[in-house]
Amino acid sequence: MTELPKIVTTADGSKTLLDAATGEHYHSLFGATTESQHIFISGGLKPLMSMHNQINILEIGFGTGLNALLSFHSCDGPISLYYEAVDCCPLDPELVMELNYARFLGIAGAELTFKKIQVAPWGEIVAISECFTLFKRMALIEDFIPEPDYYHLIYFDAFSPAVQPNLWSVEVFNRMYASMKHFGVLVTYSSRGVVKQALRQAGFVVERLTGPPGKRHMLRATKLSNLNNA
Ligand SMILES: C[S@@+](CC[C@H](N)C(=O)[O-])C[C@H]1O[C@@H](n2cnc3c(N)ncnc32)[C@H](O)[C@@H]1O
Repeated sequence: MTELPKIVTTADGSKTLLDAATGEHYHSLFGATTESQHIFISGGLKPLMSMHNQINILEIGFGTGLNALLSFHSCDGPISLYYEAVDCCPLDPELVMELNYARFLGIAGAELTFKKIQVAPWGEIVAISECFTLFKRMALIEDFIPEPDYYHLIYFDAFSPAVQPNLWSVEVFNRMYASMKHFGVLVTYSSRGVVKQALRQAGFVVERLTGPPGKRHMLRATKLSNLNNA
């Protein structure tokens, strides 16, 4: 029988899960919500918000849905988000609700938003609000071929390259690249040399940005040309 993920409290007081099979945590132990906010929202979404009215986001590794929740509540003004998230192994929504992200963040309305995100059926496009559309896609990242030239932003949040090196490969990044619009951005928490190299081989221009607490760096990769190897 598969062991259920265990709830763990991280350094900023927010919770995450430990995956027994891989020994990986879903977020940084130095602060789950701090990490997500820093890498995906501040490093990825916020800079794009002044450039587009509609942002198509692809998340690789939906997990708890924390990044979806933070994205929803980061959007102000006349911006609409299409949020597609891929995961092979959906978590039990009841377990995820026990992480209490909405209460921890203290954002008005977040509890209801998070509930809607959790109960949204997999494989269906669901309007969470007028300006936030969610599509949770159950698939293996290694088999997933995203729509070409569609996403402005990718949150690449798979388990680490140490345990899943095949997901951080040039082949996968080629597909990410092909799926992105010109000037599209991919952000990720890993700044390992092999990841940087694979991203560059796929055609991205890669920047190393300051990481969240406990991590010196994170990566932001931008698609500046429409040529790649996919
Ligand atoms: C680091 S966690 C994602 C954390 C998530 N973004 C969050 O905010 O909670 C990695 C996720 O990748 C998923 N995963 C692992 N291997 C996968 C695979 N081969 N294909 C698709 N999803 C996979 C796991 O189920 C897990 O939810």
